[in-house]
Amino acid sequence: MSDVQKVSSGIPGLDDLIEGGFWPKSTVVILGSSGTGKSTFAIQFLMEGIEQGEQALYVTLEEPPEQIMREADLMGFDMRKYYEKSLFFIHLKGRNFKKMIEEQLPQLVKARADYNIATRVVIDPMTPVIWATADKLEQRELIGKLFYTLKELGVVLCTVEEHAKPGETVGEDVLLPIYLSDGAVHLEYYPIGGAFNRTLKLLKMRGVHHGEGVYPYLFARGVGIVVRSSPTHIPEEQSRSHIKTFDEAIKTAEAMKAPARVIDRIKKMQKHWDYDYSPEEALQILFSSYGLKRGG
Ligand SMILES: Nc1ncnc2c1ncn2[C@@H]1O[C@H](COP(=O)(O)OP(=O)(O)OP(=O)(O)O)[C@@H](O)[C@H]1O
Ligand SMILES: [Mg+2]
Repeated sequence: MSDVQKVSSGIPGLDDLIEGGFWPKSTVVILGSSGTGKSTFAIQFLMEGIEQGEQALYVTLEEPPEQIMREADLMGFDMRKYYEKSLFFIHLKGRNFKKMIEEQLPQLVKARADYNIATRVVIDPMTPVIWATADKLEQRELIGKLFYTLKELGVVLCTVEEHAKPGETVGEDVLLPIYLSDGAVHLEYYPIGGAFNRTLKLLKMRGVHHGEGVYPYLFARGVGIVVRSSPTHIPEEQSRSHIKTFDEAIKTAEAMKAPARVIDRIKKMQKHWDYDYSPEEALQILFSSYGLKRGG
């Protein structure tokens, strides 16, 4: 298996967690509640392929292509440049997904597969397919068929909305796509602010010894999602500037005749500060909690 070329995800930091990327012709589910970044993830994955000369197929069930490209634009992705050159859309508008999935899609895929060009496929969101029928067996058949058909082209990445609250185990409505796919990535958003409010977890990745942690991610316009897969090294200039921030805070506290125990606290903080973010905010809070006003 080792000579099989993995398919890079296009998400900085993620490939390190999945032994280099996705298996060719595999299916991956991205699940998360609204606004966690599923579409961003999907677009990044497609753009990575397009920029390497591959083709991309975007299966959309809700938003028209124009709207998707407009939103991508706002995130810093120029999809328009490739529109109908190497990026193609299938807009499944009708209510009759069943007919579409069982009859039209296989024909369409067959025509494309004959060209034998590396292709990445995205279904975003796949949720309407799940909702197309209440019958579990039929849902299973539809999703199975969709995966089976599209996998012929390349990696199929689909997004599924989740309605469970953060911290809860995944909701029952998303178990089926997870079960039927080769890989599942869970995006979670804890609206508490701060550095760790968005996290990524790998629920499964068949045939891969994947990372098992909870990995914070952030958004960067023009790049998209960036996953912190390993502790980042703090550049020396930065930690030096943190030392300076503390030195100044101590001087200020002394000038304000702050109690010795407060100054002592700041010194302790300085000694142990090994975070990659500035201590400024924490110092501000500490000062005001002791009734000290730090002027300019
Ligand atoms: N450059 C950015 N900086 C900060 N946050 C961003 C940036 N780009 C996107 N976001 C965040 O990502 C969210 C939307 O991302 P995206 O559309 O990928 O999510 P989604 O999971 O597909 O949502 P939906 O369920 O609505 O389809 C925004 O609400 C915003 O919070
Ligand atoms: Mg979306």
